[in-house]
Amino acid sequence: MFSRITGTGSYLPQKILTNFDLEKMMDTSHAWILERTGIEERRIAEPEKNETVTMMGKIAAERAMEQAGVKAKDIDLIIVATCSPDLVFPATACMIQEALNVPPCPAFDIQAVCSGFVYGLSTIDQFIRAGSAKTALLIGTEAMSRIVDWNDRSTCILFGDGAGACVIQASEAPGILRTDLGADGRYGNLLYLNNNPLGSLSMQGNSIFKLAVNMLGSIANDTLAKQNLKASDLDWLLPHQANSRIIQATVDKLGFSMDKVVTTVHKHGNTSAASIPLALDEYVREGRIVKGQHVLLEAFGGGLTWGTALLKY
Ligand code: ACO
Repeated sequence: MFSRITGTGSYLPQKILTNFDLEKMMDTSHAWILERTGIEERRIAEPEKNETVTMMGKIAAERAMEQAGVKAKDIDLIIVATCSPDLVFPATACMIQEALNVPPCPAFDIQAVCSGFVYGLSTIDQFIRAGSAKTALLIGTEAMSRIVDWNDRSTCILFGDGAGACVIQASEAPGILRTDLGADGRYGNLLYLNNNPLGSLSMQGNSIFKLAVNMLGSIANDTLAKQNLKASDLDWLLPHQANSRIIQATVDKLGFSMDKVVTTVHKHGNTSAASIPLALDEYVREGRIVKGQHVLLEAFGGGLTWGTALLKY
């Protein structure tokens, strides 16, 4: 038994915050942000307009369920990846379960920051291969604007809000070919959020940048080698959307062509666990990622955590 993504969906908040808007809020410039990150704008959730982490995730999930042709009663596992939940508990997965009217089933959150979606995909793949689930929902949903320090210009300009979701179902043909996960807690101090008392996201951007570039190229190559594939066998590389310079450096290490790289960071910013499913949904709905293609997802994030997922879409 294998698992396969059978539907994708996403939700982006209405409010757009451009680099030019940020120029009016702090000592920064469109040119600096664009050159250092590739980001031009990001979305900002407005909870008063019902754009909570739970509701954004619920809408993304509904869209994925519609595309997959599954109903709430079919869902037998829900995993949510988020580092910015509305509540510490209950889990966002349980709140989305209630909002969607999904009957009782396992529902829990995963905390792997920006790697959360790939961690969730790996977990669901293993539930399905073990015969413990048949139709699962995986949702990445974030309101990073709530947890960044708006007085720290080196971090707040990077992040954005949104949600992406997938329906993953048991399948006789392989969809998720393999997943590889890792973490190294020795680097935890480079990127953290204190909950006691509640602080804001703290990051040593430069160190994260160097670690990310070194790691992303090598984990992509390891995953391909384990599956006896080469970078040239891939139709798409879908990296975590943190910074276009990190993406470019990874692509150079792989000797890959930029026109096969999924990029949405210019308009979404870094949406943490939502970044990969948001980008995936956009490319699927535009007909760019199609059935049968080889797609490699890769992520890194606080922890440090990292992961890859190789798909035959
Ligand atoms: N506008 C203008 N100037 C700025 C800004 C800003 N928004 N932010 C910093 N600067 C200044 C700094 O003060 C510094 O000035 P100085 O030279 O006078 O001291 C100068 O720009 C250079 O600062 P650096 O931090 O060295 O800039 P760098 O080129 O490293 O870019 C950045 C910073 C964009 C944060 C980069 O390090 C980066 O992208 N790192 C990776 C971060 C990342 O991807 N994090 C996500 C991890 S995933 C997760 O799990 C959340």
